[in-house]
Amino acid sequence: MARRKKIYEGKAKILYEGPEPGTFVQYFKDDATAFNAEKKATIDGKGVLNNRLSEFFMKGLTQIGIPNHFLKRLNMREQLIRQVEIIPLEVIVRNFAAGSMSTRLGLSEGTALPRPIVEFCLKDDKLGDPLVSEEHIIAFGWASQQDLDDMLALALRVNDFMSGVMLAVGIKLVDFKIEIGRVWENDFQRLIVADEISPDSCRLWDVETGQKLDKDVFRRDLGSLTDAYTEVARRLGVLPSNV
Ligand code: C5P
Repeated sequence: MARRKKIYEGKAKILYEGPEPGTFVQYFKDDATAFNAEKKATIDGKGVLNNRLSEFFMKGLTQIGIPNHFLKRLNMREQLIRQVEIIPLEVIVRNFAAGSMSTRLGLSEGTALPRPIVEFCLKDDKLGDPLVSEEHIIAFGWASQQDLDDMLALALRVNDFMSGVMLAVGIKLVDFKIEIGRVWENDFQRLIVADEISPDSCRLWDVETGQKLDKDVFRRDLGSLTDAYTEVARRLGVLPSNV
């Protein structure tokens, strides 16, 4: 069988041309990177877990009317998605201080924030994805004011959904990152959630013990990443064996 045309290869995923116009196939690799790819490893089974978990979260978003790119899972490592034009910003939502916010503002990890805080980072590996202000985004034309308003609203809706789903299985959603893409429907632009939602792009802490169940396990050498992601999948009832 002829191999599909590769559109783009990122650190954890590959995009292939999809079977129909307007679609891509998203392939989840086992590769893990951290600190702007200074730390790298191959983690057996990570791609399979993230494919299933991203499917689970995106389907949940669809069920409550939050538009996203997911169409259907094709196999253990691939899903069919809508083709979008990615907005070159990482949208981060934080409920508790951790990671770069703790470092930047001197807040100890786990400090509850007064309300969910949305941050934007420019997607640029060479620059290390710098934090940018709304002023920068508008002035440099990365998104319009309307896009910004829509992105904020989408990010906060995703936060409400994800926080609830995770809390129901004893996990605190500390923070997460999403990417947002443009699609055109009857000449109207619409913004939808794209890329992936998985423990690679969230901070997830056990409510009781504080145990980390996300990519910090890899970043900080805290044990087996596969075990952590499997635990998240098990609690959500989406283990790869439960197809
Ligand atoms: O590193 P930082 O604290 O800014 O990360 C905030 C959240 O965004 C974390 O959940 C992290 O996993 C996610 N993130 C990501 N991809 C990046 C940067 C951050 O998924 N390039």
